Amino acid sequence: MKVAVLGAAGGIGQALALLLKLNLPKGSDLALYDIAPVTPGVAADISHIPTGVKATGFAGEDPTPALEGADVVLISAGVARKPGMDRSDLFNINAGIIRNLVGKCAQVCPTACIGVITNPVNTTVAIAAEVLKNAGVYDKRRLFGVTTLDVIRSETFIAEAKGLQTDEVKINVIGGHSGVTILPLLSQVEDVTFTDEEVTSLTHRIQNAGTEVVEAKAGGGSATLSMAQAACRFGTALVRGLQGEQGVVECAYVEGDGEHSRFFAQPVLLGKEGVAEVQSYGELSAFEKQAVADMMDTLIGDITKGEEFVNA
Ligand code: NAI
Repeated sequence: MKVAVLGAAGGIGQALALLLKLNLPKGSDLALYDIAPVTPGVAADISHIPTGVKATGFAGEDPTPALEGADVVLISAGVARKPGMDRSDLFNINAGIIRNLVGKCAQVCPTACIGVITNPVNTTVAIAAEVLKNAGVYDKRRLFGVTTLDVIRSETFIAEAKGLQTDEVKINVIGGHSGVTILPLLSQVEDVTFTDEEVTSLTHRIQNAGTEVVEAKAGGGSATLSMAQAACRFGTALVRGLQGEQGVVECAYVEGDGEHSRFFAQPVLLGKEGVAEVQSYGELSAFEKQAVADMMDTLIGDITKGEEFVNA
């Protein structure tokens, strides 16, 4: 397997490169690309760690050598939030970056599975889909918005609130990846009950956890280390599915059957072609049904903005 990270010199990218060096299966190739000249040095640095993963770094304007033969491409290239910004404020810069990088993927590795980390994910995934579609290579089984950070945050916060071990907590987080579009399905967490107040406050904390980090970093960026762990969990799950492992399920923002919106985050069974099955997320509580209804205008608006950006 070859995994490429685009944006590999950034806060997420470097930590993700380290985690993938440690966690990809032996024999994997890890290609790091960023416009920043330090990138070959990042690869040289992690290449001294004794694992069976071979890391190579590429800098400059052209990601082609990093993308050649890639099975999985994880994209964290772009700008991150500063205090006072929400994810949609990143659109003006990041939309163009995603259009260009995914355009390169369409040419160089048209059958790779692409995981988009760059925000605003609700919109950048729609941009990626339209670029791939216009290039004649779109396969909805191979495009993912990476929403795993919402899942790991939920696991952590629930475990803290209920005095559990984090590995005892399993939760699906559905919808999208910003504000009210992030919906943790607290009603389905096994062996745990929440009061109405707990549901409201935990949901709010999970939806705004990114802002917690942005404010704590005080101008120094947004979540990078936790995001890298989340992207490593998602990327390695994708690789395990591609290699034929059965029963690998992660939530991700994918094009499903369009029941709610063209793209929607929900549990996805991963397989040899990427998405093997977009799974049902089960019964919702009254609170969750209302939250889905309340998020739809925002989510559909975010998706339309991405589609229009490419096709205008
Ligand atoms: P960063 O600023 O530390 O790193 C971004 C990197 O992208 C830089 O090294 C930069 O040189 C590179 N870059 C910019 N344009 C590029 C291009 N055209 N080709 C290749 N590389 C390019 O930012 P950070 O903290 O790593 O965040 C990256 C993105 O991830 C942001 O958009 C951020 O909002 C998003 N993010 C997404 C999360 C999620 O849950 N999906 C969570 C946290 C952040």
